[in-house]
Amino acid sequence: MPADNTRGNNTCLVTGGAGFIGSAISGALADAFDNVVAVDNLHPQVHATTDRPDSLDGRVRLVVADVAEAQTWDELLSEVAPDVVVHLAAETGTGQSLSESTRHSRVNVVGTTQMLDAFHRTGKLPRRIVLTSSRAVYGEGAWRRDGELFYPGPRSRSMLERGVWDFHDSSPTAMDASLVEPRPASVYAATKLAQEQLLTLWADAHGVQPAIVRLQNVYGPGQSLNNPYTGIVSLFCRIAKRGDSIPLYEDGEVRRDFVLIDDVASAVVAATLSDEVWEHPLDIGSGEVQTIATAAAVIAERYGAPEPHVTGQFRHGDVRHAWADVARARQVLGWSPRYDLRAGIDRLGAWIDEQLD
Ligand SMILES: NC(=O)c1ccc[n+]([C@@H]2O[C@H](COP(=O)([O-])OP(=O)(O)OC[C@H]3O[C@@H](n4cnc5c(N)ncnc54)[C@H](O)[C@@H]3O)[C@@H](O)[C@H]2O)c1
Repeated sequence: MPADNTRGNNTCLVTGGAGFIGSAISGALADAFDNVVAVDNLHPQVHATTDRPDSLDGRVRLVVADVAEAQTWDELLSEVAPDVVVHLAAETGTGQSLSESTRHSRVNVVGTTQMLDAFHRTGKLPRRIVLTSSRAVYGEGAWRRDGELFYPGPRSRSMLERGVWDFHDSSPTAMDASLVEPRPASVYAATKLAQEQLLTLWADAHGVQPAIVRLQNVYGPGQSLNNPYTGIVSLFCRIAKRGDSIPLYEDGEVRRDFVLIDDVASAVVAATLSDEVWEHPLDIGSGEVQTIATAAAVIAERYGAPEPHVTGQFRHGDVRHAWADVARARQVLGWSPRYDLRAGIDRLGAWIDEQLD
């Protein structure tokens, strides 16, 4: 690892900093800190090449290394003393995590504990650690029946095979960590919840500020077009761009909160620069909820593609509805989402056209 002069306490360390969210926050962090160091192994499922991504701000020093290896941390912390850490590095394939649980656990769980152990071992405790958790930790979330909240748990295979998509006589509720308990429904989700719990317990014992945000479905320019396991909005754009009709799973009425990367970046930067500490993770979304049929229709219209079609197919482990109540994030961070779906899809579409044409 080359020597550098990133000492002092005005250093921000970003794990997974060369990825989608890491690149999007890199400019604002480089404006706010004297030194920004990204540690990222340029995972081949995410990065088409091992070249430094153009989208990563030129002022950021990139260290290519694996967060799950103790040696990475010993080498890094021998020359860097971060004031604030933004922990983004993760394996993010929700469906994939059910068949590759060791891989997901190694990076997400062991990667987090290796980092925390190294801070303790070297005595270089950061002031604050920001963690981007996921709406996946809620699983199907909480539903309401006769005025009462209940947790229906995962939908059974027999329910899905019969085309019974929703829970009987009940309605879903917005995700708000102060009201809705986590109920992970995938290995990925379990590892994200483990990250939250490990960080909270460790930070409390070491006097470090934890700052946890739970992100809904992030999309936008810069999202890997290489990774087949993430990014439904960019997948829909590519299908429509080919002139094909977008296939809609279940009955097309699956609800999601698609939040543009610009709004996620401003939330993560606000969480990084804030001095506030909050008890429950803050939920970050677009402030609106869409059915996938609506999102697909907006995308098809943009590309002049045929209307989307419902296939009735389903994927075991997909949750039916997910959207955030962003009221606490607005209040604590003084942040607001600014882009609606149409504006976001225009930005994503223009970027995809530029990449693929
Ligand atoms: N994008 C979303 O919709 C979304 C939603 C909720 C939560 N999140 C969380 O936000 C974080 C960032 O997600 P993203 O969308 O930028 O994903 P991404 O895949 O674009 O970025 C993750 C980065 O981590 C790196 N990485 C993976 N394994 C590593 C390892 N062992 N060592 C070092 N680096 C490693 C990858 O190379 C990549 O650059 C993740 O923790 C993810 O769980 C993302």
